[in-house]
Amino acid sequence: MRLVWPEPADGELDRDALAELYAHDEGCVRVNFVASADGAVAVEGVSGGLEAPGDKQVFGLLRELADVVLVGAGTVRAEGYRGARTSPEREARRRARGRAAVPPIAVVSTRGDLDPGAGLFTDTTVAPLVLTTAVAADGARRALAATGAEVIAVSGDDPGATHPDAVLAALAERGLTRVLCEGGPALFGALLAAGRVDELCLSLAPQLVGGDAGRIVTGAHIDGPRRLGLASVLAHDDGLLLRYRTADR
Ligand SMILES: NC(=O)c1ccc[n+]([C@@H]2O[C@H](COP(=O)([O-])OP(=O)(O)OC[C@H]3O[C@@H](n4cnc5c(N)ncnc54)[C@H](OP(=O)(O)O)[C@@H]3O)[C@@H](O)[C@H]2O)c1
Repeated sequence: MRLVWPEPADGELDRDALAELYAHDEGCVRVNFVASADGAVAVEGVSGGLEAPGDKQVFGLLRELADVVLVGAGTVRAEGYRGARTSPEREARRRARGRAAVPPIAVVSTRGDLDPGAGLFTDTTVAPLVLTTAVAADGARRALAATGAEVIAVSGDDPGATHPDAVLAALAERGLTRVLCEGGPALFGALLAAGRVDELCLSLAPQLVGGDAGRIVTGAHIDGPRRLGLASVLAHDDGLLLRYRTADR
């Protein structure tokens, strides 16, 4: 993994240098995606078909630096989400940074209709959070009662919707302010429209996918293109790992 921007470096970055580069501030909402060179966000419906060199290393690090992994229900279903993988070494590094040993997964669902038998609930060392609407919360609590998940209503003025401000406030109330959002495109769109994205990490896979794959943002109506500031660029084989700051930051 070589640093290309802002300070081109000859040598490979080690884990400590990467952790310093990707330091995650309190209160920062960081969004992380992988996309192909032609902008596809999935191959045959899953991001795993995008082969972006180095992204697994950085994706693992981003989770290691975050208080919570925030994700939309569409992604949980499509990608078969499970709890964050851990190891004694990773847990020790998190504790040394003052974080909980393992970051919980917080899933945002409007319908609140999640399978209690899914890996999100059955294959995890920490209980997930389910963020849903005021309308759906009671039903979700009943359906997920045996899983240990915490179901939280995060509607704003509309009891039938989730609102990004309420989502982030619920996480902050639990001390989870370093938020790593792993998508998907609809949730990213909602956060963007609400002006609640501080940073975008984008891994550019050296592939052309074609077809009608979606982009990293869908559904958002924002007032004209939003400008991004380039924070860092890493190169790994033919892949690029870009990090941008938004004007919201
Ligand atoms: N390349 C990558 O890095 C990457 C990352 C993530 C996902 N993906 C891909 O993206 C696809 C899934 O896309 P998606 O857009 O369906 O995923 P998504 O954004 O994860 O999920 C959308 C769902 O989130 C819930 N939601 C709750 N509040 C919302 C709000 N305010 N706005 C929008 N959605 C809200 C709804 O769940 P309910 O249906 O439960 O009501 C909605 O159907 C998959 O193919 C996946 O592989 C790729």
